[in-house]
Amino acid sequence: MSKSVIIIGSSRKNGNTTRIADAIADQYNIDIINLSDYNFSYYDYESKNKNDDFFILIKSIIEKYDTLIFATPVYWYSMSGIMKVFFDRFSDLLRIEKETGRKLRGKNMAVISNSHDDELENDFYIPFQKSADYLGIKYLGEKHFNADTPKEKQNLELAFI
Ligand SMILES: Cc1cc2nc3c(=O)[nH]c(=O)nc-3n(C[C@H](O)[C@H](O)[C@H](O)COP(=O)(O)O)c2cc1C
Repeated sequence: MSKSVIIIGSSRKNGNTTRIADAIADQYNIDIINLSDYNFSYYDYESKNKNDDFFILIKSIIEKYDTLIFATPVYWYSMSGIMKVFFDRFSDLLRIEKETGRKLRGKNMAVISNSHDDELENDFYIPFQKSADYLGIKYLGEKHFNADTPKEKQNLELAFI
C-alpha cells in the first residue's frame, strides 16, 4: 500500500495549518512532518548550506513515503515562505544530489491549503502542479480548508487519497 505523509509548512508551529493537518492525519492514519522542526536555508548557488537539514530530511521522506501531501496556509496569495524555501531546495536535487532527485520520479503529490475563505482559485496550486510535472511526480489533487470552520463541521474527506 502506498504510504503518505503530510508535510506542514507554516510560520506557526501550532497554528491553523497544523491543526487541520493533525485532524486529517488522525482520520487517515498518516504521518506528519513539520518543516519548522528542521533547519534549512534558502537555495544557495554555491551549496554552502549542503550540510543543513535539507538532504537528511528529503532523503528520509523519499525513502519512507510514496505520497507527499503539502499543507500550507495562504500567505499573500502564495504558499508559505518556509514551504517555498523547501521547494527551492529541490534545485539541489537537480544539481548536486541528482541520484536523490531521480528517486522523486513516480512519487505522488497533493496539496492541502487553508485561509479564512471557503474557496481558493486554482492559480494557487499551479506552482505545485508544475513542479510535480517537472520532477516526474504525479499530481493527485488538492483541497482547500476554511480555517474558521469549527472542528466538528470541518469535512476532512480527501478525494485524492
Ligand atoms: C503573512 C500572512 C499572509 C497572509 N495572506 C493571506 C492571503 O493572501 N489570502 C488569505 O486569504 N489569507 C491570508 N492570510 C491568512 C492565513 O491564510 C490564515 O490565517 C491561515 O489560516 C494561517 O495559517 P497558520 O496558522 O498555519 O499560519 C495571511 C496570513 C499571514 C500571516
